[in-house]
Amino acid sequence: MQEMRSDANLACPGCPNTDAPCVKGFGPLPAMVLILGERPGREEAEEGRPFVGPSGRWLEKLLEMGGIRKDDCFVDNTVSCFRVGNPAPKKAELVACRARVEQVLAAVQPAVVLAVGARALRWFFPKDKITREHGRAKEWNGIRIIPMLHPAGVMRNRSLLPLLIADFKRLPAEMSRSLAPSPHTYRLATSAEDVLSYLKGQPLFAFDLETTEPILEGEFVPGLAKPLGFSVSVREGDAVYYAGSPTVIREL
Ligand code: URA
Repeated sequence: MQEMRSDANLACPGCPNTDAPCVKGFGPLPAMVLILGERPGREEAEEGRPFVGPSGRWLEKLLEMGGIRKDDCFVDNTVSCFRVGNPAPKKAELVACRARVEQVLAAVQPAVVLAVGARALRWFFPKDKITREHGRAKEWNGIRIIPMLHPAGVMRNRSLLPLLIADFKRLPAEMSRSLAPSPHTYRLATSAEDVLSYLKGQPLFAFDLETTEPILEGEFVPGLAKPLGFSVSVREGDAVYYAGSPTVIREL
């Protein structure tokens, strides 16, 4: 177990909090799971360990529901400074602490990061919203990032508790789910013969006709629609589009 004590301030270049106590990460090195929270609270600053206060105690129970022991994980935060009143980390703080977190990632070499809270998620995916992404694994530089609602937020809004519990219970599935993008192919046919060869030997296919908009003086008149092109598909995730009328097929 590697302990990093909080008694000294970290010298993060550009950090606006030169007087704040810092809480360094704690846990085994390397570790399969890195838990990345937002910022240490008062209890964390006093003990010099991340996630040992009320949020940490919740987190420990929630992790157990997903079959994970907190002690097996490396635990850290997007910013390491404690601030009175626990304000959400500001941009300048996040920027100043970024290189430190990068070093932590390099040392811990996690396969999975539990990004706890909106700031932790945005550390990896700056445009993402935790309310949309929570509980679903995503890939970032070869690491599986699983965003989680922050237990402190859920303590304030208990209606989110069932969601939080469900996400933690699904952790084992999210840790092993394949993240490979489904291979969709949608290609342009080079000729009508190309379409026929795609369909050859297929007993069934889906057909979608694209037409001009058949509007006359504001009225929808189906008979006026002129074919622009069509696509055919013989299986899910796979289709061929031909920019021409389907009658060319009949003529072949
Ligand atoms: N304690 C931490 O260490 N991080 C948080 O995000 C909340 C509480």
